[in-house]
Amino acid sequence: MPDGMHFRMVDIIRKKRDGASLNREEIKYFIDGCVNGSIPNYQTSALLMAIYFQGMADRELADFTLAMAHSGVMIDLSQIQGIKVDKHSTGGVGDKTTMAVAPIVAACGVKIAKMSGRGLGHTGGTVDKLESIPGYRTVLDKESFFKQVNEIGVSVIGQSSNLAPADKKLYALRDVTGSVPSIPLIASSIMSKKLAAGADCILLDVKCGSGAFMKSETDAIALAQKMVAIGEHNGKRTMAYVTNMSTPLGQNIGNALEVREVVDVLNGRGPEDLTQECEELSATLLMMAGKGTMSECIDMVRNSIRDGRAMNKFREMVKAQGGDASVLDNLDDFTRSAVCYEVKAIRTGYISYMDTEAIGVASTMLGAGRETLDSVIDPKAGIRLCKKTGDRVNKDDILAVFYTANEDLLSPAIERYYGALSYSQQKPESSKLVYAIVDSNGVRKL
Ligand code: URA
Repeated sequence: MPDGMHFRMVDIIRKKRDGASLNREEIKYFIDGCVNGSIPNYQTSALLMAIYFQGMADRELADFTLAMAHSGVMIDLSQIQGIKVDKHSTGGVGDKTTMAVAPIVAACGVKIAKMSGRGLGHTGGTVDKLESIPGYRTVLDKESFFKQVNEIGVSVIGQSSNLAPADKKLYALRDVTGSVPSIPLIASSIMSKKLAAGADCILLDVKCGSGAFMKSETDAIALAQKMVAIGEHNGKRTMAYVTNMSTPLGQNIGNALEVREVVDVLNGRGPEDLTQECEELSATLLMMAGKGTMSECIDMVRNSIRDGRAMNKFREMVKAQGGDASVLDNLDDFTRSAVCYEVKAIRTGYISYMDTEAIGVASTMLGAGRETLDSVIDPKAGIRLCKKTGDRVNKDDILAVFYTANEDLLSPAIERYYGALSYSQQKPESSKLVYAIVDSNGVRKL
């Protein structure tokens, strides 16, 4: 702060509450105070709620995001040769694409040094999923991380604790004060971490629908545009896919169950929606890294799956990070739970709608996610969906299989699951998997 400038947090809150834009010095004062603890949580929360209601101007959002990125280490990936790519999902249910996309892209010759997060609320996190593989280390020191990416082209680890610490603080407060689903707050949260993580190209997967933080296509596209603008403004090639999260992605929800489905995708027998999304995201990353046109890159991706290179790369990454890769060949043992319960349909009709957030919550209730900050995850808990939106169901058909270590957790989760489904007598129209692609040229609706 220049000499002579003195701020009071209450003035900053009032200014935002009344709809004005904060300047760079006020933002720096707030972010510094938030990280060093000099601003109390109640004032931070009040400002977050003011931002939730008033939004942020473009310049203000850019300053806010950069201040958050610079609140911790800015990782320098220059020790890794070549173009480095990164991808990030805004969070969904059954979204295991990172675990498939990272080895596919590496198998096609583009490096990916990826830091991922843990589950948040009803959404799962890649780090929790990978930790279901016995021995897999999600914490590597910087040298080992760089060395692994230089040697095998890929590493997926947890975020270093000093990556955008302002986001950690703000996210935890947003989570408990109802200010998560805000476009500027999500955009700055994600992009501060992406800018600090140092990749050259960033691909965002903005989820849209009942299982996403953004419920409408308009909001999801607006979020995608903000994030692309922040990335491009900071010299990163940035693109965003806006994808359907009104039904869970693939069939499996839960940590080991999702690893299992990734193995299916990498072996060329994954569910159609998940396979398509993994192929498109991987090909787009290859294209962004200059490997060819989109159709050439799709061919490269499919070949890497067909000839086993993508699966081998996943195995190589698991081994390099201390994981027991033999579980990938014994998937029944790997995902076997003490309790395995078939949830049957109590009526006949078409499934017309799935409240995907509630389904994510049901999986968490079985032990797949955290109820409190210190909950311990049951890696094998979760749900395998047998019927999804658009499917015809007869009474007593198996809707889903629930996996848990504790039988007592079944009934509340089943109740939540039944409540998440709506039925119709007519087959509902099928919905798209990708709604739009956003880049520096604008929005292309599909
Ligand atoms: N993921 C993040 O990292 N931050 C958000 O605010 C939402 C999803």
